[in-house]
Amino acid sequence: MRSQITCIVASAWFGVLVASRLTGIPTVPFESASDASYTISSIETIIVDSQFASARNEKGETLIPPTLHEFATTFADDLQSSLGIKVDVTLAIEPSPNSIFLTLGDEADYVDAAGVETSEGYSLSVSSAGITITGASPLGAFWGTRTILQQVILGDGTMPYGTTQDAPGWGIRGMALDAARHFYPESFIIEMCSYMSFFKQNTFQLHLSDNLNVNTNLYTTERSLELYARFRLWSDSNDVAGLNKYKNESYTREQFDNIQSACAARGVTVLSEIEAPGHALVIVQWKPELGLSTDLSLLNISHPETIPTMKTIWKTFLPWFHTKTVHIGADEYTAEVSEYNRFVNEMSVYINQESQKDIRTWGTFPPHPEYDNVYENVSVQHWEFFEDNPYYDYIMNKYSVLNSDDAYYVVNKWSASYPQKVNISRTFHGNPATRGLWYPNIFDQNNATNNPPKANPLVLGAVAPLWNDYGANASVYSEAYYAWKEGIPALADKQWGGDLAESEFPSVLSALHPYIPAQDLEKSIQSKTSTIFNYNFSSVKKNNTIADLSGNAYDASTTCKLATNGSLAISPSCSLKTPLGSKGRDYTLKLTLRVDELMANTDATLISGPDSALMLTPNITLFTEGNYYRLNSTIPLSTWVELSLIGRGTQTFARITPVESAVADVYPNGTAGVEEEFLTTIGVLGEFFVWASIAIEAPLSLIGGAGSGWEGELAMLSLSSEA
Ligand SMILES: *[C@@H]1O[C@H](CO)[C@@H](O)[C@H](O)[C@H]1NC(C)=O
Ligand SMILES: *[C@@H]1O[C@H](CO)[C@@H](O)[C@H](O)[C@H]1NC(C)=O
Ligand SMILES: *[C@@H]1O[C@H](CO)[C@@H](O)[C@H](O)[C@H]1NC(C)=O
Ligand SMILES: *[C@@H]1O[C@H](CO)[C@@H](O)[C@H](O)[C@H]1NC(C)=O
Ligand SMILES: *[C@@H]1O[C@H](CO)[C@@H](O)[C@H](O)[C@H]1NC(C)=O
Ligand SMILES: *[C@@H]1O[C@H](CO)[C@@H](O)[C@H](O)[C@H]1NC(C)=O
Ligand SMILES: *[C@@H]1O[C@H](CO)[C@@H](O)[C@H](O)[C@H]1NC(C)=O
Ligand SMILES: *[C@@H]1O[C@H](CO)[C@@H](O)[C@H](O)[C@H]1NC(C)=O
Ligand SMILES: *[C@@H]1O[C@H](CO)[C@@H](O)[C@H](O)[C@H]1NC(C)=O
Ligand SMILES: *[C@@H]1O[C@H](CO)[C@@H](O)[C@H](O)[C@H]1NC(C)=O
Ligand SMILES: *[C@@H]1O[C@H](CO)[C@@H](O)[C@H](O)[C@H]1NC(C)=O
Ligand SMILES: *[C@@H]1O[C@H](CO)[C@@H](O)[C@H](O)[C@H]1NC(C)=O
Repeated sequence: MRSQITCIVASAWFGVLVASRLTGIPTVPFESASDASYTISSIETIIVDSQFASARNEKGETLIPPTLHEFATTFADDLQSSLGIKVDVTLAIEPSPNSIFLTLGDEADYVDAAGVETSEGYSLSVSSAGITITGASPLGAFWGTRTILQQVILGDGTMPYGTTQDAPGWGIRGMALDAARHFYPESFIIEMCSYMSFFKQNTFQLHLSDNLNVNTNLYTTERSLELYARFRLWSDSNDVAGLNKYKNESYTREQFDNIQSACAARGVTVLSEIEAPGHALVIVQWKPELGLSTDLSLLNISHPETIPTMKTIWKTFLPWFHTKTVHIGADEYTAEVSEYNRFVNEMSVYINQESQKDIRTWGTFPPHPEYDNVYENVSVQHWEFFEDNPYYDYIMNKYSVLNSDDAYYVVNKWSASYPQKVNISRTFHGNPATRGLWYPNIFDQNNATNNPPKANPLVLGAVAPLWNDYGANASVYSEAYYAWKEGIPALADKQWGGDLAESEFPSVLSALHPYIPAQDLEKSIQSKTSTIFNYNFSSVKKNNTIADLSGNAYDASTTCKLATNGSLAISPSCSLKTPLGSKGRDYTLKLTLRVDELMANTDATLISGPDSALMLTPNITLFTEGNYYRLNSTIPLSTWVELSLIGRGTQTFARITPVESAVADVYPNGTAGVEEEFLTTIGVLGEFFVWASIAIEAPLSLIGGAGSGWEGELAMLSLSSEA
């Protein structure tokens, strides 16, 4: 199959093939055939090789791999949504002119950094006849479609004539999200998968149970038992009744299936982690007798009910996980080593008997002659040298290791030890002192002796985690995305084995970013100018439509009546609805209004949207994800004011400005016209607080209506993308 393609290519092109590489994320090895290029808008159809249309990649970590035809359909959706090119997907045995032909080749042609066959490789040939993608598997072909999307975005709609044969260096490439100490909704996780997948990452590890750290010097038993601790899967089974008490911040089986299949549709495997015997306070809150008296977040493995309880939890949830490997956590256990090893091995055998799945743990107690050690077939996720030396302790003893060295750790919002964004520069330079480049086999950027050669097959790949050490109110969902916005593509290049230079990165990412399909993580809104909508109420139409004066035609509708002044009389018995939901950074949302009465003095909603609400409690307040962020100021009653909500980068502000200067002195002194910042108060280990900025999306959907709790008038409402 492949030699045939090479042959067609060689006879079509007369010129000398020039080896080079295409700039992309990751970079793509490429043999250029000529200076000419193919214009993507000439594509008339995507043709799936009919003999492979229902083939699936059985060799990856996922147990729900899409077919070649399904991947082709996803590609067609992306061509339309990202590039406005509408093509059908058809089946045939060969390409036709101006088609993108998707077929499969010989997996043996594609090897990883260790020289081992990989099902994720692909070849691409671009000529005047069209484009052919040959995958080692359907997943390999899908990565080839990412190359086409990226290249035509960067090539202004064209793709240079030539060929590539490309394969990832490592089989596990991705990120890990602490969805335990902070909840993330289904849609956020699915959109993150879309984002990662565009850069050919294939793994999203979800850390599904954990707790705020127990401060053993300070907390009483009672306080520990009340500390924030969560288990994010929701089952109605009696066997786990009481383990999870928060259904509104959990994934039901249906939701978790949806997450896994939506991610798999884009080549991303969701790897599930349930943490024990450390970070297990949520299990101890359920069954207090299982906690170690010295630290209630650790399970007492010697207690006769501990291992059976963990087996019950796994028995309940194993059928949910569509992967060949599951992660049992086993991180930072500080009690007995022999009990820890016994726990891991018993869980390994049990999980394999129940489900044929392998297990992974965080590197904690490396093998030691003194103990019956963890079985070699348990793979290890290394994160810190004070826990283990991944090369000497594990790889040299035949364990396979996933590189999650904390060089790339992110702790959301605040940390005494870790950064709040991935250190991009480190992905490109490693340690400047040693000039060592980073790839997944680099565990130690300071001492090369600790790193296995690139070709060591026991290096599984790399996954970079984001932790929510300070819990649920330190950040909003989208802040996890912003913490990774540059980190994902920078790491993805190196995890694949690319060689993008730091100098190339910013311009390539900013060119690609607006086109990343199947996600709107930044909550952007299309607009002709910086004014996104602008309503005044001088002209409410008969059908209750309010014209958007911005030129974008985001017309609103209302059931409220006009008041004397040409403003709209707002109350709980009528409402104003816009066609929009939320706006992410940057924005200025402006309301010119007069609040006459607060019926719900501590709970009035001025405007709400799917991600947030602007409230009067009576302090000006943003409510989001179940948390209230309050300013010290409020707005004076029966007074016309302009209230601006401003999202500027990582910060959110409000400003009240008097409409008439004569009434300025009714404002609390000093607040008129001054921006006040919404802050989160982060509690650190019960010892102190840290105030930090928070970037909350603007609420745009609804004013007034049942439960809004206030009465007054609205004279103008506008939204701008400037702040
Ligand atoms: C652990 O459980 C065993 C058996 O129930 C008990 O004897 C022991 O005191 C417990 N240890 C701690 C530290 O809680
Ligand atoms: C892992 O290794 C242990 C010890 O050699 C063995 O008992 C167990 O069956 C192995 N598990 C798998 C899944 O191969
Ligand atoms: C990022 O990594 C580089 C290279 O290792 C290092 O010099 C720099 O201090 C790091 N920056 C931060 C903010 O940690
Ligand atoms: C580098 O790593 C090797 C292997 O772990 C160790 O023996 C050596 O002491 C380390 N060198 C330094 C300078 O830390
Ligand atoms: C409201 O919009 C109309 C139409 O553009 C305009 O004529 C009028 O001046 C505006 N009113 C105010 C108060 O801005
Ligand atoms: C309402 O009326 C305006 C003109 O009066 C018209 O432009 C608009 O399309 C109508 N909207 C609906 C939903 O009928
Ligand atoms: C009409 O609106 C203006 C501000 O635009 C305000 O000064 C005036 O008091 C309003 N009149 C009434 C009756 O609300
Ligand atoms: C879920 O419900 C709890 C209890 O009612 C509440 O405190 C929390 O804020 C809710 N979470 C969200 C995301 O709304
Ligand atoms: C509110 O006032 C308190 C006391 O002056 C101050 O510490 C706090 O930072 C203020 N809150 C905001 C959001 O500005
Ligand atoms: C509301 O604002 C007042 C100052 O006007 C402040 O003292 C109070 O702490 C604020 N309330 C909350 C819950 O932040
Ligand atoms: C603002 O300060 C002035 C002088 O300090 C005082 O007279 C006035 O009452 C204050 N106004 C308010 C609304 O607190
Ligand atoms: C966040 O949670 C901590 C407890 O962990 C609490 O002390 C703090 O007041 C909360 N902050 C906000 C803004 O709700």
